[in-house]
Amino acid sequence: MSFVSVRNVFQSYGDRPILERVSVEVEEGCFVSIVGASGCGKSTFLRLLLAQETPSRGEVSIAGQPPAREPGRDRGVVFQKYSVFPHLTIRDNILAAEELSARWGRLWGRARRAARERADAALARVGLAHVADQYPAALSGGMQQRLAIAQALQARPRILLLDEPFGALDPGTRLSMHDFLTELRAETPMTVFMVTHDLSEGFKLADRVLVFDKTRWDPDAPERWGATITYDFDARHGGIPFQSARAPHAA
Ligand SMILES: Nc1ncnc2c1ncn2[C@@H]1O[C@H](COP(=O)(O)OP(=O)(O)OP(=O)(O)O)[C@@H](O)[C@H]1O
Ligand SMILES: [Mg+2]
Repeated sequence: MSFVSVRNVFQSYGDRPILERVSVEVEEGCFVSIVGASGCGKSTFLRLLLAQETPSRGEVSIAGQPPAREPGRDRGVVFQKYSVFPHLTIRDNILAAEELSARWGRLWGRARRAARERADAALARVGLAHVADQYPAALSGGMQQRLAIAQALQARPRILLLDEPFGALDPGTRLSMHDFLTELRAETPMTVFMVTHDLSEGFKLADRVLVFDKTRWDPDAPERWGATITYDFDARHGGIPFQSARAPHAA
């Protein structure tokens, strides 16, 4: 069985279908980009992987289990809007992330000193060591997003969920964030799901690019049908459909 398995998932809000017949199997370590029109259900799909929502129908499993509801060590998440704590210093933001995922809540004594060393190492890794004692308001957008990524990675998650993480950044900062993410992945093998509105960013960073769209469209009732995965591209092999790249001799 694959690491992340989504089988025939439907999700509705009230009587309004958002996603329908969504199925995808993802191997551990794969980087998956998700693209699609605004409102088609991309963030909803991430929420299903986070178990913030349960599908109306169908199944989601991670490593053979339904995803845990508690924020845990297995999944880290970064949203487009900076998800850092404004009232904590940069270092304490990283420590707070670790405390949130720690089994016993607040860290004390030796455990706290060790966590502080790990936080400083993480800040050095994302180029923020020199601002460890400052507050997030002092950081540029790119720096805040690097902090948010460092926070998400602090618990060493097996899955990183990124919802338009670079959408608010200027083009130069965006490019340096691409390099940063590529370096991180070379160091730490993680499975990544990244929602983006930038198709070239999706293809550049990912192994697979999933396109969400509606296959049925009623002009008199545009909200009648949900979206599904209409394309699954192999981004490492010139964007041919993913399955045929895996099985080149298949008919
Ligand atoms: N909790 C909710 N209750 C009711 N409707 C919701 C809820 N969450 C999302 N929706 C609706 O579901 C649809 C899909 O939302 P979603 O946020 O997943 O889209 P998206 O593809 O991420 O869009 P965008 O690209 O704009 O971020 C939207 O029309 C949204 O208004
Ligand atoms: Mg969204």
